[in-house]
Amino acid sequence: MSRTDLSPELATEIRSRIFTEKGWMKITQVVRRGGELFRISLRPVTIKEEKRYQGEMTENGRTTVKNFDLAGAQKGLEDILEQVGPRELHLITASGDLHVRVTRKGKALISRSAPMARESEEAPAHDRVKQMPLTAFDSTALLKTIDIADADGRIKASMRGKYDQVNELLKVLDNLIPSPKPSETEEVKPFHIVDCGCGKAYLTLAAYHYLTAVRGLTVRVCGIDRNPALIHTARRLAQNLDVATHVTFIEADLATAEPPFEPDLVMSLHACDTATDEALARAIEWKSRYIVCVPCCQHELHKELKEGGPFQTLLRHGILRERLADLLTDTFRAQLLRILGFRTQVVEFVSAEATARNILIKAEFALKPGQIVAVNEYLALRDFWKVTPWFETRMSGLLSKYMEFPR
Ligand SMILES: C[S@@+](CC[C@H](N)C(=O)[O-])C[C@H]1O[C@@H](n2cnc3c(N)ncnc32)[C@H](O)[C@@H]1O
Repeated sequence: MSRTDLSPELATEIRSRIFTEKGWMKITQVVRRGGELFRISLRPVTIKEEKRYQGEMTENGRTTVKNFDLAGAQKGLEDILEQVGPRELHLITASGDLHVRVTRKGKALISRSAPMARESEEAPAHDRVKQMPLTAFDSTALLKTIDIADADGRIKASMRGKYDQVNELLKVLDNLIPSPKPSETEEVKPFHIVDCGCGKAYLTLAAYHYLTAVRGLTVRVCGIDRNPALIHTARRLAQNLDVATHVTFIEADLATAEPPFEPDLVMSLHACDTATDEALARAIEWKSRYIVCVPCCQHELHKELKEGGPFQTLLRHGILRERLADLLTDTFRAQLLRILGFRTQVVEFVSAEATARNILIKAEFALKPGQIVAVNEYLALRDFWKVTPWFETRMSGLLSKYMEFPR
């Protein structure tokens, strides 16, 4: 019997409700000491159809997660029960929750809730939404650290949209990034990613974790943002997740930022206005093979659209004019990428209900630049609407090999 300051009957009840009864969901112990919080929890999960137990420990704001077999979980529970001194212990099971608060004087105050009305699931979480990249590996610590999940590991309602967007982007990366050919002699070259306009680094950190944990790739990621507060947060999150040497951040404007490596892939998720064009331009200048870009709000072409010839009526209503400007902007971007040698696809990103900014441009440098058909198609559309897209002006140096300037 372990040296717990819980009564032997209570400790036996907890062991039995966890490992003998059906319907155990989680046990959590919280210890507060001198303003610091130590939190440890254990819960059943199913990973690759095997029952496992997930332990999670938060100490000084840093969370670590580890999966155990039955013997490991039993040992983990004994460690929890062996804790002495003031603390709180919360057991969640289908037969009713048990809450124990041990006071400074060592008295255990016990409260119990009634059994749950609904049936519990034996081993939740991992299996439920298998098809999502963020459920293909143990992402609990990541999601909690980046504040997409709450303390119990549930996706916060307010963060559901971001969670879905990151999952969709990860699917695209997964399909696009090839696995390195096995080689016994050569050292594996890391796959280098730059995230332009990374904000709080949800995608930056998720991409690193997914590609290393699920794809087993050696990855380095660099996030760029001009907002100092966001970069400060992003760096702290990377440190808390213990990945700060492989996931780095630069506080700079995209136009001047210099990442520490030549990227294989440049991504940007909702970089505002012409920052999307700047991300595309930098990707080309950095000679990135892949580009994945979800454009954001777009104002610049909107102002320029004045003459529509027989389609003038399309410009009459503000909302239609705005949507037309968005469509034309992304059409021009895609066509300019083709001219510059990128095989380019424009697809739906997430559902239009989730965000109106739901177009995704993905491109791979795989064509001969300057193909005359692509140039002519571009010029016809541009000259019809009598506009000069910002991206064209930005890329005029390179494009001048294939097109004449000024119009
Ligand atoms: C809408 S947020 C998206 C953040 C992140 N990609 C996400 O999806 O959570 C756009 C970000 O782009 C950054 N940004 C906009 N223009 C930029 C520029 N020219 N250079 C660097 N960062 C820029 C902003 O500071 C902001 O953090």
